Order: sequence, then C-alpha cells, then structure tokens
Amino acid sequence: MDKDVEKIIKEAQEKLEKIADLKLLDQTYIELFGKNSHLNKLTKQISNLPKDKRPKAGQTINKAKKQLEKLFKETKSRLITHHSSLINPIDISAPGKKDEIGHLHLVSQAIEEIVEIFSRLGFYLQSYPEIDWEWYVFESLNMPKNHPARDEWETFFVKSDPHAKYGGQVLTPHTSNGQVREMEKTKTPPIRMINISRCYRRQIDISHTPMFHQFEGLLIDKNISIPDLRGTFDFFTKSFFGPDRVTRLRPHHFRFTEPSFEVDVICDICKGEGCRICKSGWLELGGAGMVHPKVLKAGNIDPQKYSGFAFGWGIERTIAMKTGLGDIRLLYQNDIRFLEQF
Ligand code: FA5
Repeated sequence: MDKDVEKIIKEAQEKLEKIADLKLLDQTYIELFGKNSHLNKLTKQISNLPKDKRPKAGQTINKAKKQLEKLFKETKSRLITHHSSLINPIDISAPGKKDEIGHLHLVSQAIEEIVEIFSRLGFYLQSYPEIDWEWYVFESLNMPKNHPARDEWETFFVKSDPHAKYGGQVLTPHTSNGQVREMEKTKTPPIRMINISRCYRRQIDISHTPMFHQFEGLLIDKNISIPDLRGTFDFFTKSFFGPDRVTRLRPHHFRFTEPSFEVDVICDICKGEGCRICKSGWLELGGAGMVHPKVLKAGNIDPQKYSGFAFGWGIERTIAMKTGLGDIRLLYQNDIRFLEQF
C-alpha cells in the first residue's frame, strides 16, 4: 500500500508541475480524487485487508490525500498569478504612486508662527511643567489657599502627597505657572519669555476643550509700562491676523496683574460694527496686565526696580479667530477631511 501511494504522489507531482492551463487542472483534479482515481480504488481495497492492517492503511491514504490537496492548491495559485499577470501586465515604465505627504497640525502651525513673530521682538521660548505644584499655579500668583479666585480655573487635581511649601499637584489650568518659575531661573531681568504649553480645565463646549494650548508672554525690565504692552499686542495682531486688525484693552481683573485687561481684536467680518459672529465688533483674544508687585516678590525680583507685563492667550481660540472656525472641538476630532483644508 505504501509503495502504491508513493507512486501516486510522484506521478501527480510530475503532472501538476507541467500543467499550464486552468482547464487541464480541473481535469487533473477529477483524475486525482474522482470515483475512478487510483486513490479511491486503494481506499476501497482497505476493507479486504486483515483487520489489524486497516487503520494504518487508512492513515496512509488520508495523509496522501492531504498532500495531494496541498499540491493542487499550490498549482492553482501559480496558474492564477500567471494568468492575471498576462491580463494586467506590469508596465515598468509607468510612474510610481507617490506617498501622500501630510502637514503639521493646525495647532502646531499656529505655534510655529506665533513663536516666529515674538522672536522678532526678542522673546525666547521656554517650557514649564504641565503638572505643577499649586504654589506656582496659584499661591505665587497672589491666589492664597482657599481664595475664591481659584475656583475660576476649573482645575484637575492630581492625587499626590502635598509638599510642605508647594502644596498639592494639579494639571496646569494656565501657562501663568511659568511666570515665577522663569523669574527664579533668570534671577536678574531682563526677561522676555514666551511659554507655550498644554493646559487643562474641566470645560467642554464649542469654545472650550478640556485640553487646550496657551501661550504666555512675560516681559520684565526697567521702566516697562502699559504702552509697551500695547505696542507688543499691536505688533503681534498685525503680523498674525493682518494689517487691518487692531486691538483694544478692556479693564478686567486677574489676581496676578495690576492693572489687568482683556485684549480684544477687531472683528474681521464687520470691522468693529458688530455682527452675528462677534456681536460687539470685537473678539476676545486673552488676558493681560502689568505684573503684580506680589508676583515679582514671589520670584525674588524687586518691584521698586523692575516692572513688567504678562499676557496669556488660547491658541485654539486664536486659530478660530483667524480661520472663522465655529467650533474649536473640531481641532481634536482628527477628521482628515477637516485637517486637509489647512
Ligand atoms: C488666563 O488663563 C490667564 N492666565 C491669562 C493671563 C496671563 C492674564 C497673564 C494676565 C496675565 P483666561 O482664563 O481668561 O486667563 O484664559 C486665557 C485664554 O485661554 C482665553 O481667552 C481662551 O482663549 C483660552 N482658554 C481658556 N480656557 C479654555 C478652554 N477650556 N478651551 C480653549 N481655550 C481656553
């Protein structure tokens, strides 16, 4: 039985190797596995064998069947590949398919542009922790423990053992934590820092995301006053939004600046007349003010000698103001159809 099976496989192998046509292959299948095939005849002979030899004979035939099935499949896929390459021959002179090249995310593009504009005024880029001590986020900015002003920051608190001086840890709700850190690092002014970082607040709607980016400016030197702040804003606004866009300062309150302002940019659509988008003719860019003497003292800088201004804006809102984006959450949905537009 073993020799017969070996012979069947050998003959089948030789035949399948030579086959160049799918029709012929179908015929060969019948020859190999059909009613009149050698294998089938051998299978029928099993019942004539002595009882103890039957199981082994059955196993030998089954093994042979599997081997032949495999050979048959390999031959079939060889013929199909060959056949399709005849129908669709490869044109080696055709130009290759180019990989699609992406681009920086809108937020990264804006960050690059903003950094470049401020570098022209001598500001340098700094980076401070996204998880920071409460002291840098609140106390050093004139918001003592339990002060109600802390509530405005919609803070995410991090479970950690509180530090004796610095308190607990939080996900930074603004980039102002970099103010005193920069004073500590530089020690003696001048300081001209831009600090760009991710910020986190418990907020979500069309103009709020739980994670967003702020850029913070801090300038400290001798004889710095509000006109310097105004000049810096005007320079930025004209460079980023275009020459027609002017800014205005609106009185506001922050614990860490005195006086404090909200900075508004004139609406591009109605040019200050008031429209459906802006309502008042102006769009809010962010907060700003003259650095509070208590904050300078927290950073070991003498408020009698030095003064400065600080500001903090949201990058996502700035993009929305430039592009007319109605819902900043779109920036984080990773929808390629949206991202490809920029
Ligand atoms: C502040 O965060 C102050 N630290 C800004 C500041 C810095 C004032 C230095 C004075 C001196 P405010 O909470 O207004 O301020 O946030 C500033 C800007 O961050 C907002 O105008 C807005 O553009 C952006 N922003 C705030 N929360 C969100 C949010 N959840 N999603 C997107 N942008 C936000």
